[in-house]
Amino acid sequence: MGRTLLMIKPDGVEKGLIGRIIWFLEENGFKILGIRSKRFTREEAEKFYEVHRGKEFFGSLVDYITSGMVVGIMVEGEKAVEKIRELIGSTDPKKARVGTIRFMYGESIERNIVHASDSEESAERELKFFFEI
Ligand code: CMP
Repeated sequence: MGRTLLMIKPDGVEKGLIGRIIWFLEENGFKILGIRSKRFTREEAEKFYEVHRGKEFFGSLVDYITSGMVVGIMVEGEKAVEKIRELIGSTDPKKARVGTIRFMYGESIERNIVHASDSEESAERELKFFFEI
């Protein structure tokens, strides 16, 4: 068993996709261990996405992620990190596999509905932005 963070970004919240995304996770056999909504401060968003600091899209990413509420979901399941990344699809919705969350709902490489941790280490680091673990 492993756990990971799936975060619904402001565009996913605005589009009313919280329920559908939770349903999709459960439908795919994952267990929800925690859910918390919050609004990131700029400082938190910069820290959350610190691996992207210095890239040309960093400022715009921080603007977008602080533009509204996000929802952090702690997800548990076998090979959770790897499998949740498969379920959400490629960063760019245009390249995402049919049936993935980003394929179904993503608008652009930035407004791509959800984020999921890319390794077990990132998952533990990122879960701490939402949960006391
Ligand atoms: P996410 O998986 O949350 O990781 C970093 C985020 O930066 C990404 O999804 C997008 O929302 C955003 N982003 C914006 N532009 C780019 C880009 N050119 N390449 C990768 N990520 C981008």
